[in-house]
Amino acid sequence: MKGIILAGGSGSRLYPVTMGVSKQLIPIYDKPMIYYPISTLMLAGIRDILVISTPHDVPSYEHLLGNGSHFGCAISYAVQEAPRGLAEAFLIGESFIDSGRVALVLGDNLFHGGGFSSLLMNAARHDTGAHVFGIRVADASRYGVVEVGDNGKVLSLEEKPEHPKSDIAIVGLYFFDGRVVEIAKSVKPSTRGELEITEVIQAYINDGSLNLEILPRGLTWLDTGTHKSMMQAAQYVYAVEERSGAKIACLEEIALGKGWVTEADVRKAANSMGYGSYSRYLKYLCDEHH
Ligand code: TTP
Repeated sequence: MKGIILAGGSGSRLYPVTMGVSKQLIPIYDKPMIYYPISTLMLAGIRDILVISTPHDVPSYEHLLGNGSHFGCAISYAVQEAPRGLAEAFLIGESFIDSGRVALVLGDNLFHGGGFSSLLMNAARHDTGAHVFGIRVADASRYGVVEVGDNGKVLSLEEKPEHPKSDIAIVGLYFFDGRVVEIAKSVKPSTRGELEITEVIQAYINDGSLNLEILPRGLTWLDTGTHKSMMQAAQYVYAVEERSGAKIACLEEIALGKGWVTEADVRKAANSMGYGSYSRYLKYLCDEHH
């Protein structure tokens, strides 16, 4: 299975911060925001990853991530000329997807919690249909919200509804079968001028092939699109890492754990990163790995 990270957008809610830099390059505590969605795909077992960003920002992502081999992945890049919506990812990524199954993760979504890896591996195993995740939230009208029938099936999906039909929001991580490109091609721009991912998901609802999995309470989902949520995410990562001594979304650690890189590769990465806490952590991992 392949994975796409959408790391474009206008980031207008973070202005003036994002007037000079792409949102997903901004740090969430000790690493760039994009590390978190990359780690999500890696934990799902996905190593072949397409990063989509703006014409201005793609070179910065290339500079940051290179070809991804130092964390056991193959990263490629594509440009989204303008923020025309999440579903455009499947049009831009058509040849990358190559009619296979694909996971899409939004560049500003951060997940963390026990059991997340096995949940992801399960989702990645589905051959047909679409698999999305819902989570109960206090302020559903900010998100895509699902209405769920008695049988657990999704009846409808609404983007940022004024009067939400439930408190279950859809998070920015989606697994689709190979039909997704053709479905995305049939989506028309919404009134806000975007190709909406909700329209793509609606097509799977219509033919009865959408799976909704409600994330357990212990799982944390943070989106980092506003000043406040970005600060909260940084504080969350800081608190967890400080208490446990283990890092969230350390790409080299995930790759080492999966056997995608060797200890020598991680040492090399550490040596290229100076003497800061991230580099020290990588060296500590290598010492522990013996
Ligand atoms: P949004 O939060 O919907 O939008 P945004 O990042 O442009 O920010 P703002 O609302 O503050 O203007 O986007 C969710 C994620 O998807 C984010 O990581 C950016 C990315 N994105 C794209 O890459 N292309 C797009 O066309 C859109 C709409 C979003």
